Amino acid sequence: MSTAVSQRRVLSGMRPTGRLHLGHLHGVLKNWIKLQHEYECFFFVADWHALTTHYGDQDLFSENVLEMVIDWLAVGVNPGSAALFVQSRVPEHAELHLLLSMITPLGWLERVPSYKDQQEKLVDKDLDTYGFLGYPLLQAADILIYRAGFVPVGADQVAHVELTRELARRFNHIYGREPGFEENAEAAIKKMGKKAARLYSQLRTAYQEQGDHEALSKAQALLGEQQNISIGDRERLWGYLEGGGKMILAEPQSLLTPAAKMPGLDGQKMSKSYNNTISLREPIDDVTKKISTMPTDPARVRLTDPGDPLKCPVWQLHETYSDEKTKDWVMDGCKNAGIGCLECKKPVIDAVVAELEPIQAEAQQYEKDPDVVKSILAEGSETARESARETLAEVRSAIGLSDW
Ligand code: TRP
Ligand code: SF4
Repeated sequence: MSTAVSQRRVLSGMRPTGRLHLGHLHGVLKNWIKLQHEYECFFFVADWHALTTHYGDQDLFSENVLEMVIDWLAVGVNPGSAALFVQSRVPEHAELHLLLSMITPLGWLERVPSYKDQQEKLVDKDLDTYGFLGYPLLQAADILIYRAGFVPVGADQVAHVELTRELARRFNHIYGREPGFEENAEAAIKKMGKKAARLYSQLRTAYQEQGDHEALSKAQALLGEQQNISIGDRERLWGYLEGGGKMILAEPQSLLTPAAKMPGLDGQKMSKSYNNTISLREPIDDVTKKISTMPTDPARVRLTDPGDPLKCPVWQLHETYSDEKTKDWVMDGCKNAGIGCLECKKPVIDAVVAELEPIQAEAQQYEKDPDVVKSILAEGSETARESARETLAEVRSAIGLSDW
């Protein structure tokens, strides 16, 4: 797969830390479902990442990996559109991680904000380990091995994608210089044919002399369209555009996932650690019970006390689930004490139940037949490995490790 084409590739991973909930659905999964139609997607269970913080919890992995993938499938992540796999089944990630570790300055890892943050937060765990320090590097390897152009992440992970970009640049800088690079690049230009060659050279000049980024994108698109140049030449020309050497690893961009508006039952962010979640496979009776008993604006002690939706976590659920008419009804009814809180919760309960019922029906099919899930993952791993092996072969040869 050429670098140019892989710019249309999206990669994302999720740690197997337990049953997924509505926060994951609205924050991450709906985004994946949208992306899978627009890009070539690779989605994986980041079990090695979970090991960096949960290395003592063997039970975590045996169950959670399959259960999480069942949740993905049940909400509509489609193995026909996206390769779904488990990180530890694609050992190429580990080899790239090792090779990158040789050129990764320690300071780059120590400066990643999550390093100190997490160490301070997870005080009951000893995170003074090599694996934990190297976790953003492992993430970089996850991304670079597929030459992914885009990585959907939350704000907390943007620094990791930035590190990935720096590592790709450093790698290309150290290993991207082949003897006679410029001559090879000029020869490759000619192979594109007269018209494309002239256009490429003009766009390259416009970018290098005037910093014209549009010209750069156009030239990259032009390379993507070329049918009759080799992968090696395409990468040479890609690197030549920006003036550096041959581009072996592609710099990815973050696709910032908007912070989920999905609140937990207490109005804080929905998260397992706050114990305020509704899981995707929560029994419907419990969904009803949980929402019925969730706290409301404390000012509404009696039905006749007016309230303010902006001080009520239920309102945030209406913002996700209700149409304008219902929201007007809530605003008015709450402020004028015209509706009771239980009445107000009813449309939210109905909407959540309507959302979860089909998901749970789908999940049941997979629960009954976990072999289907396993074969989806086996197939996804094969797709992933094929692409990972290609990158690794080039990386090995660039580094000077010979192929026997
Ligand atoms: N680090 C991410 C998390 O903890 C998961 C992850 C691992 C990931 N590798 C990735 C996300 C690559 C995006 C791309 O949530
Ligand atoms: Fe909250 Fe609705 Fe009760 Fe107002 S009426 S306090 S918005 S639950």
